[in-house]
Amino acid sequence: MSTTVIGTSRPHESAQLHVTGRAPYIDDLPEVAGTLHGALGLSPVAHGRLVALDLDRVRAMPGVVAVLSAADIPGVNDCGPIVHDDPILAEGTVNWRGQPMFLVVARTRGEARRAAALAAQVATIEPLQAVLDPLEAHRLQQYVVPPMHLQRGDAAAAIAAAPHRLEGRFSLGGQEQFYLEGQIAYALPQENDGLLVHSSTQHPTEMQHVVAHALGLAAHQVQVQCRRMGGGFGGKESQSALFAACAALAAHRLQCPVKLRPDRDDDFLITGRRHGFEFRYTVGHDEAGRLLGAEVEMVSNAGASADLSAPVMTRALCHFDNAYWLPAVDLRGYCARTNTQSNTAFRGFGGPQGALAVEVILDEVARRLGLDALAVRRANFYGTEDRNITPYGQTVEDNILAPLVDELAARGRHDARRAEIAAFNATSPVLKKGLALTPVKFGISFNVAHFNQAGALVHVYTDGSVLVNHGGTEMGQGLNTKVAQVVAHELGLPLERVRVSATDTHKVANTSATAASTGTDLNGKAAQDAARQIRDRLAAFVAARWQVAPEAVQFAGGQVTAGTQALAFTELVAQAYAARIQLWSDGFYATPGLHWDRERLQGKPFFYFAYGAALSEVIVDTLTGEWRLLRADVLHDVGASLNPALDIGQVEGAFVQGMGWLTTEELRWQPMDGSRAAGLLLTHAPSTYKIPTANDIPLEPGALDVRLFGHRNPADSIHRSKAVGEPPLLLPFSVFLAIRDAVSAAGGHRVDPPLRAPATGEAILDALAAVQRG
Ligand code: MTE
Ligand code: MOS
Repeated sequence: MSTTVIGTSRPHESAQLHVTGRAPYIDDLPEVAGTLHGALGLSPVAHGRLVALDLDRVRAMPGVVAVLSAADIPGVNDCGPIVHDDPILAEGTVNWRGQPMFLVVARTRGEARRAAALAAQVATIEPLQAVLDPLEAHRLQQYVVPPMHLQRGDAAAAIAAAPHRLEGRFSLGGQEQFYLEGQIAYALPQENDGLLVHSSTQHPTEMQHVVAHALGLAAHQVQVQCRRMGGGFGGKESQSALFAACAALAAHRLQCPVKLRPDRDDDFLITGRRHGFEFRYTVGHDEAGRLLGAEVEMVSNAGASADLSAPVMTRALCHFDNAYWLPAVDLRGYCARTNTQSNTAFRGFGGPQGALAVEVILDEVARRLGLDALAVRRANFYGTEDRNITPYGQTVEDNILAPLVDELAARGRHDARRAEIAAFNATSPVLKKGLALTPVKFGISFNVAHFNQAGALVHVYTDGSVLVNHGGTEMGQGLNTKVAQVVAHELGLPLERVRVSATDTHKVANTSATAASTGTDLNGKAAQDAARQIRDRLAAFVAARWQVAPEAVQFAGGQVTAGTQALAFTELVAQAYAARIQLWSDGFYATPGLHWDRERLQGKPFFYFAYGAALSEVIVDTLTGEWRLLRADVLHDVGASLNPALDIGQVEGAFVQGMGWLTTEELRWQPMDGSRAAGLLLTHAPSTYKIPTANDIPLEPGALDVRLFGHRNPADSIHRSKAVGEPPLLLPFSVFLAIRDAVSAAGGHRVDPPLRAPATGEAILDALAAVQRG
């Protein structure tokens, strides 16, 4: 077998198309004659009883062909992925400012938008009490799902008996996915009541289900296709459903192709994002900073409906331990129902929120004890035997954190730089530097065991070229490239011989979302299974001719060989076809050994853990609150990398994206103050919502230094690699805590800086004022 395709840096399968603007996204597809365009009429209030909609006024607008509302949905008016509390179009009440109430279909997109903009004038709404603040919703016990509880031991007793006790609060903002390609769906009626829906989605099967339920169709009547997304980041796991359903509804009713592409501002107002969290904690610890007991209350801002809030909270609770052995915990999770967009998946899926809480706590423990924060972290690391079981009952068997962190600390000269920074700060009254090294441990698998399955189809054509189709979706992460590498490797072919086609519910059925970083783990294994079946058939066929054992047949370099006998792969395929050997196959994979008790939050939810660590240095201007990242060294574990270039790209991207979340990306809603804008998300465009740019990485070349740890995955994953999509989003905790360290320096490290996240200039100045007051 060829070994060169696996483990080597190969460009993204669409890299050239991406950079030359030739990679078609849905809005680039040639429009079928007669295509109509949709726009959504949005609720102008945050909460109210929807009494009437005067849609005739909207219908009278130029170019309008139809206006549809909840009453026009023939099937179930719901697009909620788990709990069915998510109307496609508002019915009875409106629950956030921006909730779609009706769909305008017009000849042009401009006409549709102008008509939809009448929403505020045509809706009669009796206002109801609106709650925007998750802590207020928590006081009112207003939740989207029942509270969750993860417990081990007697945390209260452990805290009471501990030598030291620490109490605090921490406020953590949400984050907009800001996929460059916005939400979009293009629905085309097909013969005999069928529908084809092009959807920018991470979850074609779920789109198929939602459309079928909404229209009262069977799943086999609805075909959902996605060649690629211009980014998803979790925002197209469930939230693509509303758009797919609306486009499909209009296309089905009017028997015309209908495209729905909301404007960026509307996308912000309609769809949810990463959950903001509010933490309240009490911990007990010893002189070395070891946590002995922890009681933590996590309140997430779920928004108006359940969406994926329950699994997001589960992952937050299951990542509070991060890298650390916690003997006694009492963790409570509340998904607060507020009158804001319904929050959803975003890279890390609650894991980053849960893990940041423990990092903030350890940072404070270290400061209070006057110890180095890294020493306190190391003292808390998971260990062997009696220190290796997570609060949810999974044994940490593959822990490589100690050597990984040692290697990074040495490479980044952690101890020496600590001293250098202290010396710098001692003589620099205005500019203060900060440093932090934080570890990551991230569980890989869907917490719901049965989602961990995948299917693939591999076709070998008679000319020896190969086409792969699998259930995963490509959103820029490089999944298709990795799956093609796996198939090329199995068949001993150069990568160029393998092409991956669009994800399509008519090809592989009943797929899971491409999420939880499992895309390559699941679909790579399924495609490998399919390719192996074809290889085995070809091997048996040629072995019989050559009078050798099938195991002696090798596939490499486009050749098939056994001892001295050889045949080109293309030649073998032609002969096998003539001998009526099946040259295509399906493949299937289900992750082994997973189990999960959803009520008690106990079991083995993860196939393995991915690890990493980052060391970041920042400089803060204490007069303005401005700051820069000076240097970041990253060491990240992707097992045996399938493709180091793609993996490093994922780590760099996640690092910068996570840094944006924790520093510049701030979400603000106008309070319910009786003003015209009450309840409006004010930061609904790039003018007011600041994502990081290329200019935010360290200026000095090479000062964002990402390296891969390179240890094979002990779990039997695809070629012993590890998932990489989400775990590195936790690496920039080090940036946030380095800023906190710099702020702390301004107060002589005597006071814990009350620094909220995102650490905007304003938040930094607030925290500076508090530490300088002392
Ligand atoms: N990378 C790019 N370029 N674009 C994306 O939308 N999504 C992230 C991550 N990396 C994303 C990305 C998220 S949220 C997940 S869960 C994984 O990719 C999904 O893909 P994978 O499972 O194939 O890694
Ligand atoms: Mo990723 S948040 O699991 O789509």
